[in-house]
Amino acid sequence: MPGAETFRASADAYDRLVGRYGTQLASALIDFASVAPGIRALDVGCGPGALTAALTGRLGTGNVSAADPSEPFVEACRARLPGVEVVLAAAEALPFAEGTFDATLSQLVVNFMRDAEAGVREMARVTRPGGLVASCVWDYAGEMTLLRAFWDAAREVDPERAAAADEGVVMRWCAEGELADLWRACGLRDVRFGPLVVNATYTDFEDLWSPLPTGVAPSGAFCKSLDEDNRAALHDVYRRRLGVDDGPFELTARAWAVTGIVPR
Ligand SMILES: C[S@@+](CC[C@H](N)C(=O)[O-])C[C@H]1O[C@@H](n2cnc3c(N)ncnc32)[C@H](O)[C@@H]1O
Repeated sequence: MPGAETFRASADAYDRLVGRYGTQLASALIDFASVAPGIRALDVGCGPGALTAALTGRLGTGNVSAADPSEPFVEACRARLPGVEVVLAAAEALPFAEGTFDATLSQLVVNFMRDAEAGVREMARVTRPGGLVASCVWDYAGEMTLLRAFWDAAREVDPERAAAADEGVVMRWCAEGELADLWRACGLRDVRFGPLVVNATYTDFEDLWSPLPTGVAPSGAFCKSLDEDNRAALHDVYRRRLGVDDGPFELTARAWAVTGIVPR
């Protein structure tokens, strides 16, 4: 799936781009899925560990495991959360026995899986019957302001290449209702679906822009691929489209969340 390799990147750059929303989003997802203390949980596609950290806060370090196929992110997650089991693995082949966990979650990952149906079926396999499987993905085509404005600006600067890379177009499972259809197709029951809205603050536009030229995430990879003149043009068009200046500002971001129960 488009862009998964762009996360073999620095955790610091990721934190400053999308990771900025991660802690709030993780709390919202945990609440949406009604994850309560006393259970064992797995975070699939953990990245540097925003959801993993929120799960350890709710469940305790010894009750949380995490998996991601990106070596630098696995290393960052291990360093940030000592005592948490963090394995190098993709969703499609999780190295855990059937029914190991009471809950398996993933945050902003399903759209990056090579085979989303295989990945979600694996999430369900490692979860006990009656346990829950929950995820969320950005509303790329709609109200994830940071990325929507980025791709709209990119399409103004380099229309053809940006149209082919725009996450609002190329990503699956990101339109309202799509994740719920996937959950049902994977055999999950009592599927619930809804929006999660979070926000992030920036000291100024440069604070927002600085991680993009490093190449992290699909947006960063596109930014890095531009020549110097087009990158400078993207910087200016993006700032104009966001309507921000040299002062602090806040952006909101919407994700679609889903949860379902593994049949008994
Ligand atoms: C947008 S990041 C989300 C990271 C983290 N969950 C968070 O909320 O900050 C997407 C993550 O999915 C991981 N990923 C990509 N392909 C994957 C796959 N097939 N299975 C599991 N994770 C995958 C990437 O390595 C990256 O860490």
